[in-house]
Amino acid sequence: MRFITTVLLIQTLITILTIVESRRECIPRAGKDTPYCVCNATVCDDLEAVTKAPKGTVLLFETNKAGERLKQSTLKIQSKQNVDSETNDETIVLTIDKTVKYQKIIGFGGAFTDAAGVSLNSLPKQMATNIIRDYYSKNGIEYNMGRVPIGGADFSPRFYTYDDDHQGDFKLSTFKIQPEDYDLKMPYIKLAQNITANKLTLFGSPWSSPTWMKHEGPYGPLNGGSLIGQPGQQYFKAWANYFVKFLDAYKSNGIQFWGLTVQNEPSGVGPGKCGWNCLGFNETMERDFVKMDLGPALEAAGYGPDKLSLMIFDNGPANLPGGSGHMFNWIETILKDSETAKYIHGIAFHCYGNGEVWDDLELLHKRYPDQFGMSTECCQEFSKRETRTVMELGVWDHAQSYARDIMNNLQHWSRGWVEWNLVLDMYGEPNWANMSALAPIHVNHTANEYYKDSTFYILGHFSKFLVKDSVRVDSKADKSVGDFSYVAFVRPDDNATVLVVYNLRDKPQEFKIVDKNVGHINTQMEARSVQTYIYWD
Ligand SMILES: *[C@@H]1O[C@H](CO)[C@@H](O)[C@H](O)[C@H]1NC(C)=O
Ligand SMILES: *[C@@H]1O[C@H](CO)[C@@H](O)[C@H](O)[C@H]1NC(C)=O
Ligand SMILES: *[C@@H]1O[C@H](CO)[C@@H](O)[C@H](O)[C@H]1NC(C)=O
Ligand SMILES: *[C@@H]1O[C@H](CO)[C@@H](O)[C@H](O)[C@H]1NC(C)=O
Ligand SMILES: *[C@@H]1O[C@H](CO)[C@@H](O)[C@H](O)[C@H]1NC(C)=O
Ligand SMILES: *[C@@H]1O[C@H](CO)[C@@H](O)[C@H](O)[C@H]1NC(C)=O
Repeated sequence: MRFITTVLLIQTLITILTIVESRRECIPRAGKDTPYCVCNATVCDDLEAVTKAPKGTVLLFETNKAGERLKQSTLKIQSKQNVDSETNDETIVLTIDKTVKYQKIIGFGGAFTDAAGVSLNSLPKQMATNIIRDYYSKNGIEYNMGRVPIGGADFSPRFYTYDDDHQGDFKLSTFKIQPEDYDLKMPYIKLAQNITANKLTLFGSPWSSPTWMKHEGPYGPLNGGSLIGQPGQQYFKAWANYFVKFLDAYKSNGIQFWGLTVQNEPSGVGPGKCGWNCLGFNETMERDFVKMDLGPALEAAGYGPDKLSLMIFDNGPANLPGGSGHMFNWIETILKDSETAKYIHGIAFHCYGNGEVWDDLELLHKRYPDQFGMSTECCQEFSKRETRTVMELGVWDHAQSYARDIMNNLQHWSRGWVEWNLVLDMYGEPNWANMSALAPIHVNHTANEYYKDSTFYILGHFSKFLVKDSVRVDSKADKSVGDFSYVAFVRPDDNATVLVVYNLRDKPQEFKIVDKNVGHINTQMEARSVQTYIYWD
């Protein structure tokens, strides 16, 4: 009797393990030039939790244009003594040196926008839950961060703030978080909090102040209006207290923030220059607002620099008047003022136009080593449509562009990378300003389906493996080959070594990974592919 019970129990356990552990494969549908993965009420691909591989082996994951999506395989590590005779001239030798250390990872994530909430709510509850699981669980790509617009963003069905009705409400007595917070943001933030194995690291970013705080700029208060008066005066004081009210309101709903950015896309005036509803800040205004208003208000309310990470800039370098060459000056104007810098922890930037700023990030790190860098927004195909158009999925260029951007960020001291909308509909909406964009996941609610684009898996190559506090270590190739790039990390808890590599050329590439602690790995990559290697010494 006891024996039978034990056998049954073991069998049950095995069945449960099989159900939990076996990965469900992508159900591919043809995109423009690479497939996307289809999920419906009954089937959806997922991933396994990463478990330690035996000594002498390395786990390899690959995503490529031909259609693999984080496909897992196991390779042998050749022992140190083994002299390799097969290396030819074209083989790249990639050496990892774990004694040379750089920045630590804070995390990866996406934004809990109202638009994401609308798309999630358009699906049956279980499917919406699955999307959050795809992003935040061990069976997904293990995001640990989330950006939360403070009030409405352009990716909201309507324009709103938390104090629209009462003109001149300097005491913010009618401040109130809105139905969007309760219906579109908080349920999914809470779900992600429950699903993530680690702490969810959240930061807030405001788009617009209430319009009564703004000048009627040349393009109207919603687009191009600037905050009235000067830092230190009543409008700026009220605007600083608005942040505190927001943090308190979310806290009383069980949601605590790790950080804030001072203003989403603060700069410039005019269409395309000022985001969709920014405050028309320049660098001296941002500096003085933090020093005179925001920093002190947060500190007085118990959200001081020891509790909350405050980030400046939060802009696409290309959005600056004069272009991306002006990013360095903007940031330095703020950070060289020590009375302001004491409130600031990091520099946030968006991927728009940042192709030219990698040297700036190196220099900023050198001058301000205590200020972290973080990419806080990125999306593709952001544009105004004359007529609503279905977004084109399965475009491999989009995968490559994310791979390049995340790689460059990590190679230049960034400690995190946060996508824009977690989910959008098939038109890349809703957006009250009639803009549209791509997201890693799109929802077709009439078909009861959602689609994971190739960018979702590219993000996974980083987010799933580079857990919080992973430390970048040195890696060097013996020859420089265009469109072949790499970055290596060591993880904190299990001491695993993670190497992410891409080969975005049209031909395969052979290479050899050398780690003097373990030996070497002879391997190769398909054309137009991204790989992640993980091994335990
Ligand atoms: C989901 O997709 C699978 C595979 O294409 C299909 O067999 C199944 O019928 C679909 N289920 C629903 C509910 O549409
Ligand atoms: C989170 O988990 C707790 C405890 O299991 C549960 O009570 C709560 O309803 C969950 N919240 C959400 C949003 O799923
Ligand atoms: C920023 O704008 C303010 C107010 O218009 C102005 O006084 C200041 O000189 C400007 N700063 C820069 C760097 O242009
Ligand atoms: C968006 O489009 C609608 C319908 O065409 C139009 O009424 C509205 O003015 C547009 N809004 C903006 C901000 O462009
Ligand atoms: C959504 O799916 C339905 C049913 O398969 C299809 O007819 C429709 O074209 C799809 N919508 C979009 C916007 O792709
Ligand atoms: C982690 O790996 C390094 C390099 O291989 C080794 O020196 C160190 O002892 C390991 N630490 C732990 C805690 O296993």
